[in-house]
Amino acid sequence: MAARIVLVVSLASVAFASFLEVDYPNVNVSAERKGDAIFEAGAGGSVFLRPGAGGTVYIDKTDLRKFIEKVKSLPPIWTRRSEHDTLGTFLSGQYFDVDVEAVDPDGGNIMYSLISGHLPPGTSLNMTTGHVIGVAPDIDATYTFGIRATDIHGKYADGVFSISIREKDQCSSMPCMNGGTCVDQIGDFNCTCPLGYGDTTCQTQCEINAFGVANNVMKIPDAQISGHLTLGTALPWEGRLSSTTGWIGNDTGSWLQIDLGEVRHMFAVATQGYHSSTYYTSSFKVAYSQDGNKFVYAQSKNSEFFKGSANYDMVQKFVLDRPVRTRFVRFLPELWHNGGHPGLRVEIYGCDV
Ligand SMILES: *[C@@H]1O[C@H](CO)[C@@H](O)[C@H](O)[C@H]1NC(C)=O
Ligand SMILES: *[C@@H]1O[C@H](CO)[C@@H](O)[C@H](O)[C@H]1NC(C)=O
Ligand SMILES: *[C@@H]1O[C@H](CO)[C@@H](O)[C@H](O)[C@H]1NC(C)=O
Ligand SMILES: *[C@@H]1O[C@H](CO)[C@@H](O)[C@H](O)[C@H]1NC(C)=O
Repeated sequence: MAARIVLVVSLASVAFASFLEVDYPNVNVSAERKGDAIFEAGAGGSVFLRPGAGGTVYIDKTDLRKFIEKVKSLPPIWTRRSEHDTLGTFLSGQYFDVDVEAVDPDGGNIMYSLISGHLPPGTSLNMTTGHVIGVAPDIDATYTFGIRATDIHGKYADGVFSISIREKDQCSSMPCMNGGTCVDQIGDFNCTCPLGYGDTTCQTQCEINAFGVANNVMKIPDAQISGHLTLGTALPWEGRLSSTTGWIGNDTGSWLQIDLGEVRHMFAVATQGYHSSTYYTSSFKVAYSQDGNKFVYAQSKNSEFFKGSANYDMVQKFVLDRPVRTRFVRFLPELWHNGGHPGLRVEIYGCDV
């Protein structure tokens, strides 16, 4: 049997008298009247510490029994859920209230804190109840986060939990018009439009959607309108539909070109002659190109020849037999009013691709 050294500290007759002082690490041990504690050096280097039944013994003003309680106390235990658990799946916009729960085997209170990961945006953890409460955001995601349950002795248990959020079906309100097909996106939807319709909800009928060359719209800036073999002082950007003048080509081989700024779906064109003169174009071709270099002739009514106005102010519209993807569009006069020059004012119709 190992030898036991028993050190009994007992109180001097005055309450809170200091009876044992240690230089390092500088601990002040004191005791109330009749307070005592027994330190026993046991086998294998163990030290047994036993407060007596009398007055309280303090170590640096802390009740010795609190130290023992802390040493002997047990960490919290997760109940109801395992320490790696799913708290649920919720739909965007849904209010939820889920909880984790840990108990202290010593019967004390538990505080909960988030130690890693992220809660779903817009939700929060109640530190005293362990409830995660909030409204599910509009996103498809699983949030994984760590929660630490800490007891009054600072002992803790960590758990990793997750909450899954399913975004709303943005297509449920059937936003796509004109037979468009809705594709649900994160917080958004995407319409796949049938040919002839465009924009976010397929609300735009491409054939009548002007890109804005016309004088009263001018979404296409002057710099995107050019002319080849332009007559005299006429300017290319006067070739806008309903302008008070017009573009005039000198002769065969002249053309008016519109740069749409990017590749777009062209469905139709409209033309007039030069305003208030006999400079009108009775036949022209429309050539299109994505790169401004290699041009192809468009067709309307199975012909490359677009039969233009027999009158300078009348607006004539030509729907292409097949819509084309193009950025550069050229109007090339073929025939025009006798003795004059080919005058044109134009607009282009379509949708963005
Ligand atoms: C030790 O603690 C007791 C009780 O708190 C106090 O009365 C005493 O003054 C302390 N002694 C020293 C040296 O700090
Ligand atoms: C946590 O829950 C308790 C009990 O329901 C409540 O009284 C307290 O206000 C909540 N704390 C927060 C920060 O919401
Ligand atoms: C719509 O879906 C198409 C095809 O998946 C995709 O190319 C396009 O970028 C989407 N548009 C938007 C606005 O999400
Ligand atoms: C206009 O056309 C005429 C006849 O083809 C030609 O003589 C003249 O040089 C041309 N002018 C310009 C500026 O192209």
